[in-house]
Amino acid sequence: MRTQVAIIGGGPAGLLLSQLLHQAGIDTVVLERRSRDYVLSRIRAGVLETGLVELMQAAGVSERMERDGFVHDGTLIANGNEQFRVDFKALTGNHVMVYGQTEVTRDLYEARDAAGCVTLHDCSGVKPHDLDTDAPYVTFLREGAVHRLDCDFVAGCDGFHGPCRQEIPQSVRREFEKVYPFGWLGVLSETPPVDDELIYSNSGRGFALCSMRNANLSRYYIQCQLSDSPDDWTDDMFWDELRRRIPEEATARLETGPSIEKSIAPLRSFVCEPMQWGRMFLCGDAAHIVPPTGAKGLNTAASDVNYLWRALVAWYSDGERGGIDTYSETALARIWKAERFSWWMTTLLHRFPEQNDFDIRMQDADIAYLRDSTAAQTAMAENYVGLPY
Ligand code: APR
Ligand code: PHB
Repeated sequence: MRTQVAIIGGGPAGLLLSQLLHQAGIDTVVLERRSRDYVLSRIRAGVLETGLVELMQAAGVSERMERDGFVHDGTLIANGNEQFRVDFKALTGNHVMVYGQTEVTRDLYEARDAAGCVTLHDCSGVKPHDLDTDAPYVTFLREGAVHRLDCDFVAGCDGFHGPCRQEIPQSVRREFEKVYPFGWLGVLSETPPVDDELIYSNSGRGFALCSMRNANLSRYYIQCQLSDSPDDWTDDMFWDELRRRIPEEATARLETGPSIEKSIAPLRSFVCEPMQWGRMFLCGDAAHIVPPTGAKGLNTAASDVNYLWRALVAWYSDGERGGIDTYSETALARIWKAERFSWWMTTLLHRFPEQNDFDIRMQDADIAYLRDSTAAQTAMAENYVGLPY
């Protein structure tokens, strides 16, 4: 088998890259370890920066998002009982689009089907070879047979646990990590969202977030212990704890119902440098992880895809190799800024086990500064809606 770009991983990064390259006439094959149903059952944040919205348009998959997505011009920040709004539109002229990541993935799969693009599911033992030569290839096992895929380039879009990052020799690779001492317990419920906009809330009992998927589907999170299991939390316990962590005016409006999904996610910041090795390029969670505060996971994956897509189109159309050579440097420059923003929002809004009274006063002062200063709000807003590519 031969293709121009072998894409390892059929999550949002791999699928979006494949679809964008397809639009430019560049041939790709996506190799995915899991089934399509499995990939489409993962529930993840749904806040899209304008840059990602534009990539969806360029990939020809924006129709349903434009119809069913919600434009958010601002967000609410709460500290205890006090709440204020950061107006993205007034401060930056920009907004975010609330549209579930599962829907983004579904739209990409459907577009691939329509275009006859190749996605191979249930591939095991996927391994890239000869990445430091001009003729790399990928081997994998599927339906009981070993296959070989020859290519010009390999895109490692295989998530945090995938094999591609490990192909960068240890003597070259540097990994930077911060693990946070808590998790997020998330609940999905078929109830109307408590507010039209998201509420990020710091409280004496820990962080809470009120988010949504649509007019009758809400997504809520509370900070929890890493040792907790979702089974430790009955629905009633979850709703009671959420009520205690958001301002009273929101509590009064909160509609609760049975959870249709409940899970715990750990919080981590992680970056791998460099993001390329020979003819392999890492995109998305394969190269970096952010804590979910600020919703940058999907958006940082899209940022990488944007740079790699442009670099590959320049290579194939004009023989221009500048973008390819500087991919890692260019992608990382933006990634580190998104890492900083996600780390800052996490630090601002959570209770940390080792925090003393001074640290809590510092958080209060940081939030009060954000409430009172247009400069501080502009800094938050421009990061939240997404820094330019
Ligand atoms: N072979 C083939 N595919 C693999 C392998 C492997 N050995 N290992 C992992 N994969 C697949 C996974 O099954 C998954 O479908 O790679 C895909 C990676 O997808 P994601 O983990 O969703 O990562 P990415 O596409 O970078 O998307 C980033 O997803 O995790 C969230 O918060 C993150 O929103 C962000 C987005
Ligand atoms: C979500 O809706 O799942 C969500 C929204 C915003 C975040 C994190 C998660 O910062």
